[in-house]
Amino acid sequence: MKVLVVGGGGREHAIVTALAKSEKVDKIYCVPGNAGIAKLAECEAIGVMEFDKIAMFALEKQVDLVVVGPDDPLVAGLVDVLETAGLKAFGPDKKAAILEGSKAFSKDLMKKYNIPTAKYENFDNSQDAIAFLDTCKFPIVLKADGLALGKGVLICKDYEEAVAGVHEIMDDKKFGSAGNRMVIEEFMTGREVSVLSFTDGKTIKIMTSAQDHKRAKDNDEGLNTGGMGTFSPSPFYTKEVDEFCHKYIYQATVDAMREEGREFKGVIFFGLMLTEDGPKVLEYNARFGDPEAQVVITRMKNDITDVMMACVDKKLDTIELEFEDNAAVCVVLASDGYPLAYEKGKEIKGLENFDGKSDYFCFHAGSKEENGKIVTNGGRVLGITATGDNLVEARKKAYDATAWVEFDNKYMRNDIGKAIFEA
Ligand code: AMP
Ligand code: GLY
Repeated sequence: MKVLVVGGGGREHAIVTALAKSEKVDKIYCVPGNAGIAKLAECEAIGVMEFDKIAMFALEKQVDLVVVGPDDPLVAGLVDVLETAGLKAFGPDKKAAILEGSKAFSKDLMKKYNIPTAKYENFDNSQDAIAFLDTCKFPIVLKADGLALGKGVLICKDYEEAVAGVHEIMDDKKFGSAGNRMVIEEFMTGREVSVLSFTDGKTIKIMTSAQDHKRAKDNDEGLNTGGMGTFSPSPFYTKEVDEFCHKYIYQATVDAMREEGREFKGVIFFGLMLTEDGPKVLEYNARFGDPEAQVVITRMKNDITDVMMACVDKKLDTIELEFEDNAAVCVVLASDGYPLAYEKGKEIKGLENFDGKSDYFCFHAGSKEENGKIVTNGGRVLGITATGDNLVEARKKAYDATAWVEFDNKYMRNDIGKAIFEA
């Protein structure tokens, strides 16, 4: 079969790598892709928000499946455009992708269907939000309703900070129209776990767990980023936690969406916090996480096309999801300065060190080819990933491999996966 992947980050490189392993796949296209993806797929310079161009390209190439990686096109309805054009697409349509696209929607959904989450209120103007703050305990969490590159969450330690935060989100529109509405929610403490799942709208199958590291600097300091590294599985995701989530969260979410007339097919990413009162949903995403995909997909035994087609064709009940009994760690190599200002266009050397090694992966996130050289082209540049028999081994291998590649301004966290020693 022929498959088109939409996106150009590390997540999409991991998806393309899994597709390339499938005996069923004879051709992969990617828009826009990156220099790493280009080794496995034919890349075309079309942006992820150019819906008509993407649909035309897919029709022209007669692809059997389009896999949509990033949140923006999902929330804006790329899948609807593809399906209208008669194409098969893996990912939720616009009605379902609101699960990620509106935090106010997802909070109301959880409240209505008794899915455990932090207490909250939604607001559509700053006066009401500020009046509500009088009744709050601090710290408190402010969330812009819409997509904000993972940056629309403010944790405010006192009333003054919270008032300033409300103004930033709703009046100054720091996150643009994402701040037309906002959620004010109770602050929770605990370990965070990312759980990804496949669903066909009815059946849900849970993938192995992972943990991300969102802050830019060691010890979870610095600004929030898209994710600086991951490990899988999370040793904190115990059997008891898994049982609780199956009982109260996973199927309940899929059923709630169907009940609301928003049948969800694709990947639901559950951002969970393991609190003293049990697991609670921090957020939903409507797609694979990045860099969670790099450690989770890499450990999947199934042919990814079987699973994706089963989601599209509503036959996920026929699939048994299987993961290797191993571990994986991904360390992101970024451009120094990320997530603020950073330089691009630096030559990346040493990529060939990963050739022919089945337990090491160099997933490209921001790279491109320029005059025969591969150069940096983004904040997150590479996701150095290794598998091992256990987390300690995988972590050592991933960190060893970070030294195999060099580029100017290379930056990474040195404590990815440190938490495994606390388990
Ligand atoms: P989100 O985009 O909703 O996952 O929020 C980004 C990050 O903010 C999460 O990964 C948490 O670290 C933190 N966060 C979000 N909501 C809460 C909350 N209610 N209590 C504590 N931390 C939170
Ligand atoms: N790594 C978190 C995310 O993809 O949203």
